[in-house]
Amino acid sequence: MRCWRLPLLLLFFFWAMPPVPGGRHYPHSAVLDGSSRYRLSWAHQGDTIAFRLEVRTRGYVGFGFSSTGAMTSADMVVGGLDRGKPYLQDCFTNADRILKKDSQQDYHLEYAMENNTHTILAFSRQLHTCDPNDKSLTESTVRVIWAYHEKDFKYGGQNYHGSNRGTKSLRLLNPEKNAVIPSSLPYFDLANQNVAIPEQDTTYWCQMFKIPILHEKHHVIKVEPLIQKGHESIVHHMLLYQCSSSLNDSVLDYGHECYHPNMPDSFLTCQTVIFAWAIGGEGFIYPPHVGLSIGTALDPQYVLMEVHYDNPSYLEVLGCKYKKSYMPSSPASYHSLCALDAEKPTGIHVFAVLLHAHLAGRALRMRHFRKGSELQLLAYDDEFDFNFQEFQYLKEERTILPGDNLVTECHYSTLNRSDMTWGGFSTRNEMCLSYLVYYPKINLTRCESIPDLMEQLQFIGVKQIYRPVRTWPFIIKSPKQYKNLSFVDAMNKFKWSREQGHSYNDYVLKLPLNVRCTKTENAEWTIHGMMALPPEIERPYTAEPIICSSSSRLNANLFLTVLIVVHISAIASRNHEPFVQL
Ligand SMILES: *[C@@H]1O[C@H](CO)[C@@H](O)[C@H](O)[C@H]1NC(C)=O
Ligand SMILES: *[C@@H]1O[C@H](CO)[C@@H](O)[C@H](O)[C@H]1NC(C)=O
Ligand SMILES: *[C@@H]1O[C@H](CO)[C@@H](O)[C@H](O)[C@H]1NC(C)=O
Ligand SMILES: *[C@@H]1O[C@H](CO)[C@@H](O)[C@H](O)[C@H]1NC(C)=O
Ligand SMILES: *[C@@H]1O[C@H](CO)[C@@H](O)[C@H](O)[C@H]1NC(C)=O
Repeated sequence: MRCWRLPLLLLFFFWAMPPVPGGRHYPHSAVLDGSSRYRLSWAHQGDTIAFRLEVRTRGYVGFGFSSTGAMTSADMVVGGLDRGKPYLQDCFTNADRILKKDSQQDYHLEYAMENNTHTILAFSRQLHTCDPNDKSLTESTVRVIWAYHEKDFKYGGQNYHGSNRGTKSLRLLNPEKNAVIPSSLPYFDLANQNVAIPEQDTTYWCQMFKIPILHEKHHVIKVEPLIQKGHESIVHHMLLYQCSSSLNDSVLDYGHECYHPNMPDSFLTCQTVIFAWAIGGEGFIYPPHVGLSIGTALDPQYVLMEVHYDNPSYLEVLGCKYKKSYMPSSPASYHSLCALDAEKPTGIHVFAVLLHAHLAGRALRMRHFRKGSELQLLAYDDEFDFNFQEFQYLKEERTILPGDNLVTECHYSTLNRSDMTWGGFSTRNEMCLSYLVYYPKINLTRCESIPDLMEQLQFIGVKQIYRPVRTWPFIIKSPKQYKNLSFVDAMNKFKWSREQGHSYNDYVLKLPLNVRCTKTENAEWTIHGMMALPPEIERPYTAEPIICSSSSRLNANLFLTVLIVVHISAIASRNHEPFVQL
């Protein structure tokens, strides 16, 4: 009897009131732990976000947000069912990881259930609650922290500290992707075979691949990483470049370390980034009206896959795969990279951005300027996590017009480092870049910029360098203390104080930039770029004020919820099994 009574009961739920407890639709979900015991699902609408936790425990479940990923100074909620009686408390932890109850309760239980193995809790809150103990939820990365225990929760009890716990970075406000891709679509893999990773902490491994020959235009609509199980932490990022179409199949025979003096010349023809993936990212699905064109004469035929392996401690043999699926589809075409050419007067439309930095990166943003005005940020991440870098889909496509300026800004923390941090390929060097995915395709491979080097050197008192400059690094001529030193050596020799560091920062941000952009099939990478000044901002962008709302708004719903509680409890107790509770 009991077995079929419960489903009937639930059906009643769904029919009676569409936004019913437990009946909410959660378009996003993620397993938070390594053994699939803790699953989070969530839904976001307007200012409200709703969560559903399904955890393999009959004790309490903890969930929260922490700026560092640690259990200190975090916004937490703790809930469960104690002998059938549901509880949920809005809490916070202090700097000593002591859990305290929030004086303002902003998490609202919508549904709770426990069976022989699992606890399910559904609750909601406002994105901005006005409570300093709650974390405001934005488009930035958020480090979700989770915990569970076999016993129910008691304040000050030992069971808090003995829990299973962990952290995972997520972007909670990602737009919904409801693209359903049929599994029967054709696809192809680009996979490195048995690469022996050298015993060094950074390896950029390059291998050429040939795109399958198709005799008409097709579009790639989805790309997903294929990483051998257990090697997830070694594969740091992958880039796919389009190479010259005049190559032949002899280039496919072997891989080589990239940026190496002995690497084959054919690699140098691969300049246009057509896809990027970085650690923590998942598959990428193009919007319905866009795809990566393959199969025509202008499309990629030979591609170079560059894999950054991060191998600080050991040697491994690795087979890493890069998988693409494709299908004949819509007429649009797309191309991925970093700036705009004047050839498209109607501009390009950006729909996704990947912000990239290395270990010192803390906050990244991409700013967009047009004729003296700053527009809304194209993308931002105020809590950048090096281990979680994926394409952010924009809420709305953004048009970039000729003459617009795009600036990627990176804020770093190097407080723990005693030496200067340099730009470079290692994760302990830095990068500051963004990959934009846009359409239609334009003739541009990439853009780079560097604040004028001579002016940077003037900050530390350099007067003259040897000219003409034909080599990198160039050499300093005077004054004497820097004579014959390179840029890097001179900067390292200077005795930096904290104040000098700060004023150098301010100084560099105002310097003219040397900007270098290249076109496809244009092998010349000009040594001297074009000088450009940082955009002048007459009308800065003013962000819309955050409207925070405390819990009072939810009272209207509460009445209905209370009605359901009574009803369910009555049925449940008749069954002598408090299966469904609220
Ligand atoms: C308990 O609930 C979980 C989560 O919904 C479910 O996967 C599991 O099958 C349930 N167990 C039983 C015995 O019904
Ligand atoms: C392929 O390219 C290589 C290197 O550019 C060249 O030496 C070789 O002759 C080419 N082979 C064919 C069949 O064109
Ligand atoms: C800085 O270094 C100290 C000591 O090595 C370490 O405890 C701390 O976590 C580090 N802080 C950061 C932000 O990396
Ligand atoms: C700098 O290099 C030049 C040319 O190599 C050399 O003649 C000169 O002695 C060097 N000066 C110093 C201070 O090392
Ligand atoms: C891109 O521009 C370069 C330089 O003007 C030209 O040589 C090349 O053919 C162009 N490529 C395409 C695909 O239009």
